[in-house]
Amino acid sequence: MKIGIIGAGNIGGNLTRRLTALGHEVRVANSRGPHTLTALAEETGATPVPVEEAARGAEIAVVTVPLKAVPDLPSGLFAEAAEDLAVIDTGNYYPRQRDGRIAGIEDEGLTESRWTERHLGHPVIKAFNGTYAQDILDRPRPTGDPGRMALPVAGDDETAKAKVRALIDDLGFDTVDAGGLDDSWRQQPGTPVYGLRGGVDAVTKALTEASPERPADFRG
Ligand SMILES: NC(=O)c1ccc[n+]([C@@H]2O[C@H](COP(=O)([O-])OP(=O)(O)OC[C@H]3O[C@@H](n4cnc5c(N)ncnc54)[C@H](OP(=O)(O)O)[C@@H]3O)[C@@H](O)[C@H]2O)c1
Repeated sequence: MKIGIIGAGNIGGNLTRRLTALGHEVRVANSRGPHTLTALAEETGATPVPVEEAARGAEIAVVTVPLKAVPDLPSGLFAEAAEDLAVIDTGNYYPRQRDGRIAGIEDEGLTESRWTERHLGHPVIKAFNGTYAQDILDRPRPTGDPGRMALPVAGDDETAKAKVRALIDDLGFDTVDAGGLDDSWRQQPGTPVYGLRGGVDAVTKALTEASPERPADFRG
């Protein structure tokens, strides 16, 4: 599958490693340009590209940049993608440590991914946001393995969500349908499922135990 990865840090780098290892054709971009991605390209076989070209032909694109950088992404990011493109958003809002106060999230009450989706102008599927980057490399397990971790996946487009869940299964993780994007507060930072290394039952339980009130540590 053709996959575009926007952001080549902790998460984007490790997704590039695993997805190329599975045989996917990966284009990867960061903010500084493809010449800064030669080591990752040599290691993985991924193609480093300018961010404008990352989603060219892609059936799946992953947006994995700090939340505060989302508005800086170029418009028309997905103009040359495949018609049935699914966009994964891995983002989290860290107002105090990194992102500053974002009014759309704090005052309008948008979920973090709904805010991102509005900036991107394309529906998103929220996944990997509570997964430690290193676990993408270290914790894949075969289907049926009792130690297999599950990841919550939220989004409104059921076809895109199914495509993303199938990809995560290929990567070695179960998934739990966490509802639509307006339900995705259940997996944001500070919730029981965030960072949970559990299976389907534990993740399902943690999602039901979430509180809609944003924890103080995650308010700007
Ligand atoms: N780290 C984790 O374990 C983890 C787990 C789950 C979710 N997340 C979330 O996933 C997102 C990414 O996290 P991360 O830890 O992977 O971040 P990171 O290591 O800081 O990497 C961010 C990447 O985004 C790129 N970037 C920044 N602004 C950009 C722009 N305008 N255009 C193109 N690329 C841009 C950076 O490029 P340069 O290197 O050129 O600056 C870098 O490659 C965050 O929202 C984070 O909260 C992180």
